[in-house]
Amino acid sequence: MLGKVAVVGAGNVGATAAQRLAEKSLARTVVMIDVVEGVPQGKALDQWQSGPIEGFDTRIVGTNGYDEAAGAELFLVTAGIARKPGMSRDDLVKTNAGIVRSVAKEIARVAPASIIIVVSNPLDVMCYVAMKASGFPRERVIGMAGVLDTARYRMFLAEAMAVSVDDIQAMVLGGHGDTMVPLVSYTTVSGIPVSQLLARDRLDAILDRTRNGGAEIVSYLKTGSAYYAPSAAAVQMVEAIALDKRRILPCSAWLQGEFGLRDVFCGVPCKLGRTGLERIVEIELTDAERAELAQSAEAVRATQAVVDAG
Ligand code: NAI
Ligand code: 2OP
Repeated sequence: MLGKVAVVGAGNVGATAAQRLAEKSLARTVVMIDVVEGVPQGKALDQWQSGPIEGFDTRIVGTNGYDEAAGAELFLVTAGIARKPGMSRDDLVKTNAGIVRSVAKEIARVAPASIIIVVSNPLDVMCYVAMKASGFPRERVIGMAGVLDTARYRMFLAEAMAVSVDDIQAMVLGGHGDTMVPLVSYTTVSGIPVSQLLARDRLDAILDRTRNGGAEIVSYLKTGSAYYAPSAAAVQMVEAIALDKRRILPCSAWLQGEFGLRDVFCGVPCKLGRTGLERIVEIELTDAERAELAQSAEAVRATQAVVDAG
């Protein structure tokens, strides 16, 4: 168990994640920070009062400042806005970059030794902003996307084959967007290659659905995006770190030559333990997968350039 975890952004993803952190007893204190007065305080109080029913002793605290988060070991950054009418994609990037930049500076001020897990979109570029603004090394700035994209992929496969999702092993790499790279060559059902169990056209339909997994949910919700699976994915990463589990999970990491890619955040297999990103696991890829990963990284780089241009 960690002493203190802070969740920045008390919206759908942040508040659901805070509740999950407490229910899993991953920290003695969970601090939830948001700019909207009263909302983090009210939600935190409500969540804390579920403790006797859910059986946790974690204290959940809501606040509009960072003092309560001083010394936190880990920050989950979910602050940001969704695209509004009339706003271009680049406008959104710049607005969220401004938010994540100010959040990361506060984190570096009150908890310079902490680990940051970024959730805010566009994910890979927000990791870049958080790393630059905090000045933290790459081991302590990690992005959540691959765990979510992989969960969607595994669930669709399990349903298509009528098997338990427990038996589906898979990984989705690349940037968080429609250029993501589900690794078919590493997709197995209890060790059996998926290609032996599912016809190619059905697999292709699942790959497509995975790439559009976020948009499918937005099309139902109309306002807002997914948060149950995203918060579960972020908390799985927190758990790997808090419990020093050394899990290998697909996360966005700052690449320095791995997979032939440099100076870009991109989803790759990462070993997560108590110190954060402990290792990027450079697996073999087919030529097609390697090319797709490079293309995905280029898409991230293009958005990164928008941030660099100010
Ligand atoms: P939301 O709109 O429900 O919550 C965002 C919260 O951030 C709001 O409560 C807002 O007041 C707060 N906020 C804005 N500026 C802030 C600041 N400077 N400091 C602290 N809080 C601030 O949105 P939701 O659904 O919780 O999503 C949050 C972010 O996570 C979005 O950018 C979304 O696109 C992203 N996301 C990423 C996923 C991924 O796979 N990486 C999955 C799901 C969501
Ligand atoms: C998702 O994939 C919106 O990035 C978010 O659901």
